Amino acid sequence: MPRIGWYGLGSMGLAMASNLQKQLVRKATQSLIYNNRTMARGDALKALGGTPESSFPNVVAQCGIIFTMVSNDAVLQQLISSALSSGHSLQNKIFVDCSTVHPETVRTTAAKLQEQEADFLAAPVFGGNPIAVDGKLVFAIGGPGRAREVVKPLIQDVMGRKVIDCGEDATRASLLKIAGNIVTVNMMEAVGEAQVFAERTGLGTGPMEELIGEAFGPVAGGYSKRLTTGAYAPPLDSRPGFGVSLAIKDAKHAFTMARDHKVELPGLKVSLDNMEAAREYAGECLDSSSMYGVLRQKAGLEFWNERSRKGNA
Ligand SMILES: NC(=O)c1ccc[n+]([C@@H]2O[C@H](COP(=O)([O-])OP(=O)(O)OC[C@H]3O[C@@H](n4cnc5c(N)ncnc54)[C@H](OP(=O)(O)O)[C@@H]3O)[C@@H](O)[C@H]2O)c1
Repeated sequence: MPRIGWYGLGSMGLAMASNLQKQLVRKATQSLIYNNRTMARGDALKALGGTPESSFPNVVAQCGIIFTMVSNDAVLQQLISSALSSGHSLQNKIFVDCSTVHPETVRTTAAKLQEQEADFLAAPVFGGNPIAVDGKLVFAIGGPGRAREVVKPLIQDVMGRKVIDCGEDATRASLLKIAGNIVTVNMMEAVGEAQVFAERTGLGTGPMEELIGEAFGPVAGGYSKRLTTGAYAPPLDSRPGFGVSLAIKDAKHAFTMARDHKVELPGLKVSLDNMEAAREYAGECLDSSSMYGVLRQKAGLEFWNERSRKGNA
């Protein structure tokens, strides 16, 4: 097994990299080499035996398999450009991107890497931070077969509970992720609407949450908890579970694909408008479920609830 590298230690990346590093320790193989824009985010990974490295091209130079887990398409493109222009050979290296990016970004990235005889796998994930911590994410994976077979054992029962194989065409994995997020964002909107309805009618958020968890499953129940625990608007010095701008990016990717294929997404449009209104009102430090705050305002309540932060000061 070649040495493994990692870039991206955000809400998802740190949990995923930690599980991978623990597996490398169990297998008594060489440690994960990591880099992140904010290196201090890696302290917990270092404590598990991970090896910090000061730049992404240096990670690439030392590793045969390089995972990335970053916010958006522009960050991924910038990282790959830095690797391509580093002067180090990329021959036979496997790049595995777990971020949610547009299929076109996947296509161009894979093509650029192929020119230097490197493989690119799109391996986006389903599930939030607590599921990442438990190593129970669902992965979609697409790209060259040899690379997929090398990488799958690093995912299955290490970072994920299930790997959905999308075949040779990496763009299909990214397409599946974007399609999945249509469900995610609509479900957050639905749970938010039901919880505002429950509060305003006097039913109460407690019984509503019990029902959502029991009748609609743990994912919907988890979205309800983001509202009732105030996690939709966390303290300003914290990192949201799934940042509102990331979900806005995902919804916009879905709309560009939908437009090209003459598909309408009216539910997603409502959710997107409410997420954008939430960000306009309360800033960047919001979870994707923060459309709830806007639904509260429309029902004559404050954006904030009793357990969220109370403003932007
Ligand atoms: N959170 C979820 O529930 C969830 C679930 C499934 C998929 N996703 C997707 O997974 C990806 C990562 O999500 P996340 O929640 O982990 O995001 P996050 O917490 O915002 O972390 C983003 C990562 O990208 C790095 N980064 C951001 N801007 C950068 C820049 N300009 N240059 C270099 N590095 C930069 C950050 O570095 P710093 O640490 O220095 O900020 C961090 O390592 C996203 O594509 C998201 O859509 C998220």
